[in-house]
Amino acid sequence: VVALLVLIISLLTFGVIKIGVVLPMTGGISAFGELVWEGVQLAHEEMPKVLGEDVTLVLVDNRSEKIEAANAVSRAIDKEGVVAIIGQVASSHSLAGGQIAETKGVPMLSPSSTNPLVTQGKKFVSRVCFIDPFQGGALAVFASDLLGVKKVAVFVDIEQDYSVGLTNFFIDRFKKSGGQVKKIYYKTGDQEFSAQITQALAFGADAILVTGYYPEIALVAQQAKMLGFTGYFLAGDGADAPELVQIGGEAVEGLFFTTHFHPDANVTERSKRFVNEFVRKYKKKPSALAALGYDAYMILMEAISRVGKADPKLIAEAVRSIKNFEGATGIITIDENGNALKSVIVDVVKNGEFAFQTVIQPDQIL
Ligand code: PHE
Repeated sequence: VVALLVLIISLLTFGVIKIGVVLPMTGGISAFGELVWEGVQLAHEEMPKVLGEDVTLVLVDNRSEKIEAANAVSRAIDKEGVVAIIGQVASSHSLAGGQIAETKGVPMLSPSSTNPLVTQGKKFVSRVCFIDPFQGGALAVFASDLLGVKKVAVFVDIEQDYSVGLTNFFIDRFKKSGGQVKKIYYKTGDQEFSAQITQALAFGADAILVTGYYPEIALVAQQAKMLGFTGYFLAGDGADAPELVQIGGEAVEGLFFTTHFHPDANVTERSKRFVNEFVRKYKKKPSALAALGYDAYMILMEAISRVGKADPKLIAEAVRSIKNFEGATGIITIDENGNALKSVIVDVVKNGEFAFQTVIQPDQIL
């Protein structure tokens, strides 16, 4: 009877560990949210428990909006009682939401926000991806050394911290290689780019780099081709969703973009297992964002198990003590500032798919 009572009591007090997942599930960049969510769910299926307790995922939509990005974090913490958050995708959303996470003392781990400011001066916000000084440098090295490009028109989305930052980091490194640049501005949601493209043509650009996200990258490529541009198209990780090709069609063939992972790059044993499991579950190849979402979940679980209890402050510290973690996207070390140092992958659009082009290591961009 006593044993039975103990069992019943322990069953009743047996908790769940709640993890918030804040993503753009609707709105302008909803393709990104869907991709990350696939990776997080696969990871959760592989590791549904930590410290002997069930992990419950609470998905909250930020609607691809900055204000909602902050509200979603508040809601996850105050209403749902999550002990940690995976998110967000866009740097501007991680900046808005990260402010709230920091104030409330709950760790937020971004799979993919690459702007340096996302973690700067914060204790609770970390990421599992590289940052844009490196991504911009890799783009510049690829353009100048591998493509031989001399003049780049950079299309900057002035509403996105990611785009503004990546542009400047690209320019710094590209000028060192003797290249010339012209910045040309647009805003998230713009549909019509002929004025900007005319400027790029007048500049004599041999490449157009769009540092924003896939909806506008696809439209710029289409309209630039229509207006007679015949040079290269370049982009950063913001290009990396199948919707780029669905919207851009023929116009994005040959476009090069930097990203975090490609299933053919097979960097670690875990990458191979991840690709196999992903194909089994979803009947398609995994995207970079799925791999990053998978890694974010696994690193959070590792941090929680190291702490031995679901204490938000200790989890935040433990995330920054992760060294040489074998992830799907590579070997991940998170430094004391919450950033990861990893190699950059370059993909090219070929026959409507993303083909692996090359890898750029941190020491190549110096
Ligand atoms: N790096 C982008 C940002 O910071 C987000 C992103 C990452 C989008 C990877 C697609 C793929 O805003």
